[in-house]
Amino acid sequence: MLNYIFPEQASTYATRVDPFYYSLVTFSALVCVGIGGLLIYFSVRYRKIKGESRPSKPLHNMALELIWTLIPGMGAMIIFAWGALLYNDYATAPEGALEIDVVGKQWMWKVQHSNGMREVNDLHVPVGRPIKLTLTSQDVLHDYWIPAFRVKHDALPGKFTSLWFEATKTGEFHLFCAEYCGTEHSLMGGTVYVMKPEDYAQWLEGGPKAAPQEAGLFLFEQRGCATCHSGESGARGPNLVGVYGSTVTLKSGDEVVADEEYLRESIMRPALRVVDGFAPLMPSFSNQLTEEQVMDLITYIKSLSAEGEPE
Ligand code: CUA
Repeated sequence: MLNYIFPEQASTYATRVDPFYYSLVTFSALVCVGIGGLLIYFSVRYRKIKGESRPSKPLHNMALELIWTLIPGMGAMIIFAWGALLYNDYATAPEGALEIDVVGKQWMWKVQHSNGMREVNDLHVPVGRPIKLTLTSQDVLHDYWIPAFRVKHDALPGKFTSLWFEATKTGEFHLFCAEYCGTEHSLMGGTVYVMKPEDYAQWLEGGPKAAPQEAGLFLFEQRGCATCHSGESGARGPNLVGVYGSTVTLKSGDEVVADEEYLRESIMRPALRVVDGFAPLMPSFSNQLTEEQVMDLITYIKSLSAEGEPE
């Protein structure tokens, strides 16, 4: 019967989060029925009756107090620990996950794969491999939701967020926008196609594309990034080779890991967190680049790390 109410389990996370969910519902139902039942029972059993006197009212019972404090208290701690473990796994994509970029806009999901293959609304992924989606929005709040995988995350304008999953069976699954984003919100969705790895590889080669890395290099030259980020000593901007994933020291003395979000911020609002040893000369590129172009640039910067040059 549960199959009619709940979507099928099609990811590693689904089979882990569902037992937790059912336990939570059961625990809440027991507490609710227990308290409600006793409330009704006591109000009938000890109602006021004419002529009946109820002389000695016990005001305190240590054993009872301990029981009804400690048992639910332990239940709550178990739920906390279990939930925190699950959330921790949910929040951090495993190393080596396949990365796919997703941009939400009114009212479609634009997807770009690692080799530049693009698709709209649909999402093709291989089975049995962790997939990391980097999400952002071009306009308002959207929310990427794949019920069969039990994953759901906001896509925010001006920010990168991410979610990850590993599909466990091939097939087609619905995906939705789960944040009311305007008149056509309910149409903003599509299908996830989970394919065998060899089918995915074949699909990936199937369409027209411009590799984001090359598009990024083109922008890097065209927008003049290369002038300051030349990589030479005495350059006006930091050398970007190997910067992705490295720890950067800021002017303020703070340290920050140069992840996608920091790189994005450095392009859009460069004055916010300037690298130590450099002047805040760089102009802001917000309103000058589309979200896809920012993602292309970041893909290019990441490729500078992948080539294994010394940092
Ligand atoms: Cu996008 Cu709702």
